[in-house]
Amino acid sequence: MPVLSPEEAEHSRKAADLIRERIRAAGGWLSFEDFMALALYAPGLGYYSAGSLKIGPGGDFVTAPEVSDLFSRCVAGQCAQVLEGGGEILELGAGTGRMAAAVLMALSARGVLPERYAILEVSADLRDRQRAALGRLAAELRDRVVWLDRLPERALTGVILANEVLDALPCRRFVIAEDGVRELGVAVQGEAIVEREGPAQGALADACASLMSELPEPLPAGYVSEICLCAAPWLAGVAERLERGLMLLFDYGLPRSHYYHPQRVTGTLRCHFKQRVHDNPYVNLAVQDITAWVDFTRVAEAAVECGLDVRGFVTQAAFLLGTGIDRLVGEEADPVRHARLAGEARRLLLPGEMGEAFKVMALTRDFDAPLAGFALQDLRRSL
Ligand SMILES: C[S@@+](CC[C@H](N)C(=O)[O-])C[C@H]1O[C@@H](n2cnc3c(N)ncnc32)[C@H](O)[C@@H]1O
Repeated sequence: MPVLSPEEAEHSRKAADLIRERIRAAGGWLSFEDFMALALYAPGLGYYSAGSLKIGPGGDFVTAPEVSDLFSRCVAGQCAQVLEGGGEILELGAGTGRMAAAVLMALSARGVLPERYAILEVSADLRDRQRAALGRLAAELRDRVVWLDRLPERALTGVILANEVLDALPCRRFVIAEDGVRELGVAVQGEAIVEREGPAQGALADACASLMSELPEPLPAGYVSEICLCAAPWLAGVAERLERGLMLLFDYGLPRSHYYHPQRVTGTLRCHFKQRVHDNPYVNLAVQDITAWVDFTRVAEAAVECGLDVRGFVTQAAFLLGTGIDRLVGEEADPVRHARLAGEARRLLLPGEMGEAFKVMALTRDFDAPLAGFALQDLRRSL
């Protein structure tokens, strides 16, 4: 594991002080969800709220829009099918702003610019980076970009985009004990923040009971996993604003029966620190990312509950091929640039890279036209 710089160590100490204080104020125990919310989003201190580099080759992890603009150009192709009749784009959690910039440029080239490109970003630091990145666009494009502090009041027609946002929502953790389900949370031992079991109660107990009743095989004792109870309210809040159009969710995840497979005994929680992946969320506090894979069945259920249609569920590779990534690479005449693009496309498409672990879900309201990104595959039956 790379060592922390003195500034990172100091930042992490401050975050640990805050978390210890909150654990004590709560009577000695906090759910993992509350811990994750503090580690990632505590104002001024959390990983996403403070100023570390985070996303990109010099940061902790690389997302698809950072691997290559080919990804965003394909996303733009899908958006264009919806925006031909007018409308706007709302991007949730826009990271460095690179996808927004590339989508706007690609839509401009196609002559189907959105009326506006709104960004809702909870991280003040990333919002600054987005402003800098998008400020470099031509006026005709950058003048369409607005930042929102909360979801828009008015209904939206067009496209809502969220790449790797669901995996960043704080999740609950549970363990199967001999006598039933227990919740995992955090306590203080000496000065250390340590994992501690507590009783599974309320919404978590209900969600686990319903989960267990659906799974084809019982989960073995000692089995640890995650469940994101925030996903449904988050989706409901967003869906409420979509009057007509498409919501595209990109993330690493699985249908429920694969997510809670009896052999996945240590769950899906992962931490990202300086391009290393590990599974200890209690180190490098507030200077490493903490994520969990997405249970796409939960997302689809929440969408149906909000009156949205689940129009497609495909691998990232199928989405990118359906929206013409091979054509975009083939169009590049310069041999050096062509070789670079071909390498980037392989990283986005290959099963051992991002092609299969990442999935794309299309949710629509009052929109029936075909969607190119979902024409080559249909994994909805697996949900
Ligand atoms: C893993 S990053 C992905 C960033 C970017 N979409 C990309 O692909 O590079 C997660 C992003 O989601 C944002 N985020 C987390 N919770 C959010 C929420 N409730 N609403 C909107 N954005 C959120 C984070 O601040 C961050 O920008």
